[in-house]
Amino acid sequence: MTDLDIFAVCPPGLEPQLAAECRALGFARGKPEAGGITLTGDWAEVWRANLELRGATRILVRLGSFPAFHLAQLDKRARAFDWSALQPHIPVRVDVTTNQKSKIYHAGAAAERIERALREEHGLPIDPEAPVRIMARIERDLVTISVDTSGESLHKRGHKLHTGKAPIRETLAALMLRACGYMPGEAVVDPMCGSGTFLLEAAEWASDLQPGRDRSFAFEHLATFDADAFAGLRRASSAPGVAPVFYGSDRDQGAVNGAIRNAEASGVAGLCHFSCQPLAALQPPPTPPGLVLLNPPYGERIGADKKGPLYALYGSFGKIMRERFPSWRIGMVTSDPKLAHVTGLELGSGPVIDNGGIKVKLYQALIPPVSR
Ligand SMILES: C[S@@+](CC[C@H](N)C(=O)[O-])C[C@H]1O[C@@H](n2cnc3c(N)ncnc32)[C@H](O)[C@@H]1O
Repeated sequence: MTDLDIFAVCPPGLEPQLAAECRALGFARGKPEAGGITLTGDWAEVWRANLELRGATRILVRLGSFPAFHLAQLDKRARAFDWSALQPHIPVRVDVTTNQKSKIYHAGAAAERIERALREEHGLPIDPEAPVRIMARIERDLVTISVDTSGESLHKRGHKLHTGKAPIRETLAALMLRACGYMPGEAVVDPMCGSGTFLLEAAEWASDLQPGRDRSFAFEHLATFDADAFAGLRRASSAPGVAPVFYGSDRDQGAVNGAIRNAEASGVAGLCHFSCQPLAALQPPPTPPGLVLLNPPYGERIGADKKGPLYALYGSFGKIMRERFPSWRIGMVTSDPKLAHVTGLELGSGPVIDNGGIKVKLYQALIPPVSR
């Protein structure tokens, strides 16, 4: 079988981290493009990418492309296109994006033509709620047809019971851990852990658990799916002997209860220590220095004049890190550079990333060791 053109999507700016993960998991090529990584492989690699990549938002397979300069041509070529990856009678939906440089500029009309071709020529039912989504991109009069093999975004791992306020997306948390140079075995502390996303991602990673083990995927509805072969890719158990070095705290008891339930549902509760305490009570755990990773509140919806308590919170975070966490690495996600600044830490910052509509940055620092 010829290799498929697979595209693992990630937030723009985090392509190097996803490329590193693709390489670590043995995927072929891993060439970064804007907004993701191109991989090659067969359908089993598509299933494995969905099952194993922590940082990918979704996995697309490019089915092919053809030029189309007007809607009648699009209609004709969509009818003649090789749709054999789709199953007759399984409903599909079609999303189209176009750019200004194409003669076909009306995405809705283009989607309608492709849908009609699928329905009339190939007998496929069209349904806006269909489990299978066809994505057509029209750029410079070239129509590229892909199928979304994931379905629901891959940040929905399928085992998070409690989401809390302003959680970081699981996929983003995994890429941020990689950006911070997280290595399984080292301790991770999140003193404002909310639903526990950073800790659960790190604990699962250390345990070699497949992030997609508890969910279903759109590829299960494609003609290319082989349930037995896919079952062979699933691993039921976690790695033995993982150090219980994941420490979460939050001042909100409800959030802590939720994080504990999430850790139980993920099978990593035995590796995590959660406590209800304010930041001011934070002490380093009894481990060698590791990584403190958090997203404190950003006060997105409050004006600068009302951010006083947040400045105080960030200021005291910086002070606690300097005084109590020598030699630890810090990763802090926030949307407001002024809040990062008041920590007083020497922070380097990464690219601007979209977290569910809010533009955030990862700020990093290394706390100097204690001088003797
Ligand atoms: C943006 S949320 C963190 C979300 C978390 N990363 C997740 O994925 O669910 C910020 C958290 O900081 C906590 N928090 C705010 N001020 C705090 C303080 N002074 N001490 C401890 N936790 C605090 C809030 O209760 C909230 O759960």
